[in-house]
Amino acid sequence: MNDFIYEIPTKVYFGDQLSRLNEEVKKYGKRVLLCYGGGSIKKSGLYDKVVSEVKKAGGTLYELSGIEPNPRITSVRKGAQICKDEKIDLVLAVGGGSVIDCSKFVAAGACYDGDPWDIVLHKTTVEKCLPIVSVLTLSATGSEMDNCGVISNLETNEKIGAGYDPMRPKASFLDPKNTFTVSPYQTACGAADILSHIIEVYFAKEPTLYMLDGFMETLMRTVIKYAPVAMKEPENYEARANLMWTSSWAINGFIACGNNTEWSCHGMEHELSAYYDITHGLGLAIVTPRWMEHCLNEKTLPRFVQFGVNVMGIDSALPPKKIAEQAIEKFSEFLFGTLGLKSTLTAVGIDKTHLADMAKAAIAHGDFKNTFVPLSQKDIEKIYEACL
Ligand code: NZQ
Ligand code: ZN
Repeated sequence: MNDFIYEIPTKVYFGDQLSRLNEEVKKYGKRVLLCYGGGSIKKSGLYDKVVSEVKKAGGTLYELSGIEPNPRITSVRKGAQICKDEKIDLVLAVGGGSVIDCSKFVAAGACYDGDPWDIVLHKTTVEKCLPIVSVLTLSATGSEMDNCGVISNLETNEKIGAGYDPMRPKASFLDPKNTFTVSPYQTACGAADILSHIIEVYFAKEPTLYMLDGFMETLMRTVIKYAPVAMKEPENYEARANLMWTSSWAINGFIACGNNTEWSCHGMEHELSAYYDITHGLGLAIVTPRWMEHCLNEKTLPRFVQFGVNVMGIDSALPPKKIAEQAIEKFSEFLFGTLGLKSTLTAVGIDKTHLADMAKAAIAHGDFKNTFVPLSQKDIEKIYEACL
């Protein structure tokens, strides 16, 4: 394993603590840009509560609304311009991962003279960024506690992720009750995303710490236990709370300490979303089991056995190869049976037209040499084909 620095400076208010939002707002100034999506926060009543907190802090509100799922660079540009024109002090993101991701680049773009797309493309770095506070409404991406975001550019068919430490939220309000209104479908997609964030790290090219393995296995079992409960009983606080805190810890940097394995499934999924605008978690659910099948070989077998026994509950007395195969089968059954997600690209309207283009783009945008199993463009195309 590698040396590492651990620092997660986001202050988390977990549970019913929105009444302390005004304290956080006061720390950063009076001019607040409220960023939100297509209206779910208005329907749920959260919008009014947030506005009242900003007013309590003596703040003046500006708004960037209508942030899209798979947020667009056009929204980022619009938000960054408002920040510049109105001399915004604080970016307040209220929503799911898309809203928080967009807000991060708005806040960074506000302190950059050029086009914010340069920041996404890593053409420049982020040293200065407006402070960001988030109020999370969907457990999935972990954007509430990490330093990155993913932005789509419809003109170029690109969906690209970038992370810079100054973009990490200063504070995040995590109230599981704010996720009670998330639909069973979005809950399932969120669960698939959380699982994928852990799997991308757990299936490492080098051994990691035993304690982190155990931590990751617990996180995965937590999602497997509680996602179906939250889908059936949307207002089950215990289920929503477990999913929410797991989503944050899956990607806030802790489990990846000492591990420098590059991610595989996310790179492949981002091209699906870029070309077809599909939901991130759904794309991951379709890709991940096929990627697992592709990666299973004599060398990787022990990792699949550990996953099978410790996460999927496969009988440890079975021959190793059987355990690995049953683990992948049971994992697929969880995604497509229990969570009810569509299991193929064909089922979501994707045919073979752009498979080669997407494989080429994935290689151009990511590093597939330092992954659990290195992947060539041809390998990626084969994995996509297996998903049809
Ligand atoms: O737009 P509104 O009206 O708010 O509706 C949203 C949206 O339609 C709705 N929703 C959110 N909270 C709700 C709710 N509906 C009812 N009640 C609530 N409480 O759900 C829909 C999806 O929201 P979105 O924010 O798009 O979902 P998610 O949180 O899964 O975010 C997905 C985006 O995050 C990126 C993905 O690529 C995708 O663009 N990711 C960000 C990461 C990060 N920052 O580290 C890592 C991830 O791997 C991921 O790539
Ligand atoms: Zn993800």
